[in-house]
Amino acid sequence: MVIHLACYYQKNGCLAFSVFSPLTRALVRQIGLGSMMSFESCEYGVGDNSYTMAGKLSGITKLVDDFYHNMNVFSKSKKIRDMHPSDLSESRKKLSCFLSGWLGGPKLYAEHYGSINIPLAHKHLSVGIEERDAWLLCMQKAIDQQPYEASFKIYLMAQLRVPAERIRMVSGT
Ligand code: HEM
Repeated sequence: MVIHLACYYQKNGCLAFSVFSPLTRALVRQIGLGSMMSFESCEYGVGDNSYTMAGKLSGITKLVDDFYHNMNVFSKSKKIRDMHPSDLSESRKKLSCFLSGWLGGPKLYAEHYGSINIPLAHKHLSVGIEERDAWLLCMQKAIDQQPYEASFKIYLMAQLRVPAERIRMVSGT
């Protein structure tokens, strides 16, 4: 069983947990740990919760802007920056549209560009461990800059690692 559990220290020194699946949440209560934990009010990945937690389209647009800004300035991401066109406007728009639907919000990518298979869309690129990690670094730093709940930041990064690794497996060198 995969337990989607994020654990972090709150400012007051207490442990806080975010439990992402209703089953895990019920189990935790059943084994009597409920009183030791403070639950976030929201189950990420259910309905449009993640989209809302990310600040809807304006929040996602800000995240993507910060992500591409990082890609422009981090020396570690020069190689993946060079894979992109010099004008990033369309890349920003496409990633924002994709993340909107991927996080449970309006399916803007499908609406504007049609269907997409993320690993196949990157198959023509050479994405190895270094390139995958550079992309994730830009995203991690961008997420850190957002006013999201700490547990949502952890959740979002964990979710993004999945397609990033799939891309590496399909297009890795
Ligand atoms: C693993 C490292 C990754 C690298 C090196 C990478 C690189 C790229 C590059 C070079 C493009 C083409 C940009 C353009 O021509 O405008 C692109 C497009 C795109 N990427 Fe990634 N990417 C990575 C991971 C991801 C992940 C994890 C996601 C989704 C969560 C994603 C979503 C997209 C989308 C939606 C597009 C637009 C595709 C299209 O419409 O053609 N990428 N990426």
